[in-house]
Amino acid sequence: MSHTDPRRTAAVLQLAKVSRVHGRGAAEVHALRGVDLAVHPGEFVAVMGPSGSGKSTLLTLAGGLDLPSQGEVLVEGVALGGLSRGRLADLRRRSVGYVFQDYNLIPALTAAENIALPRELDGVPGRTARREALTALEELGIGELADRFPDDMSGGQQQRVAIARALIGDRRLVLADEPTGALDSATGEAVLAVLRARCDAGAAAMMVTHAAEHAAWADRVVHLRDGEVASESVGRRFGGHPVAVPHPSGEVVR
Ligand SMILES: Nc1ncnc2c1ncn2[C@@H]1O[C@H](COP(=O)(O)OP(=O)(O)OP(=O)(O)O)[C@@H](O)[C@H]1O
Ligand SMILES: [Mg+2]
Repeated sequence: MSHTDPRRTAAVLQLAKVSRVHGRGAAEVHALRGVDLAVHPGEFVAVMGPSGSGKSTLLTLAGGLDLPSQGEVLVEGVALGGLSRGRLADLRRRSVGYVFQDYNLIPALTAAENIALPRELDGVPGRTARREALTALEELGIGELADRFPDDMSGGQQQRVAIARALIGDRRLVLADEPTGALDSATGEAVLAVLRARCDAGAAAMMVTHAAEHAAWADRVVHLRDGEVASESVGRRFGGHPVAVPHPSGEVVR
């Protein structure tokens, strides 16, 4: 085992017997049921499953945007359930980059300002935060959009700004809900390469995706069904290029 083997280091994200029930009585929905999952430094995990299987619920709980009905979520060893609102917000801002399915950009701020904001809230000087934002935009191939407002961008451009915002700073955990949904296939692949590189540099990432060819960039694919982990498979890679992922049914999907 090399010293970079992810399993030898503490998990960046750990879910222990996590359940989430929405509603009450007859309207009760068990969105997640007893999920155990750990993501280690350097690991890129894809989450797949049918609509309603609990993928977004899993991601919001992992990012501390929602709390479980039962069980515990730990980020960098800290149990989120025990934190005050303020401490939870601090931990989320410093440790977690979150790419929302609907981007969640602030309309009154430019692309660069949207990306720099969490850093400035953390006390990084404005000029430094802007420089970091420009670097992140360049990395995603949209450096020329720095001073553009979200309403003047396409959906795919906004999605890349949202990804840049999640990657800025030294966030150890990147959570992305369908981060390639609005992108053409070439741009989608480029974004996945950026996420992959971030994990290779030591971050941990969990990404919801419907596309098997995107999941192939991951080290592991977690398949959810009815709020439970139905199976896990390996996303094997050679030289950074995605290859086929064995599907739990035994059939090979691309
Ligand atoms: N706030 C909520 N109130 C009530 N039920 C909810 C709520 N959020 C999610 N659910 C229910 O929990 C289950 C899991 O939802 P979730 O959004 O996690 O699914 P998903 O796998 O992300 O689906 P999709 O692929 O359509 O995005 C669904 O049955 C959904 O209707
Ligand atoms: Mg969802």
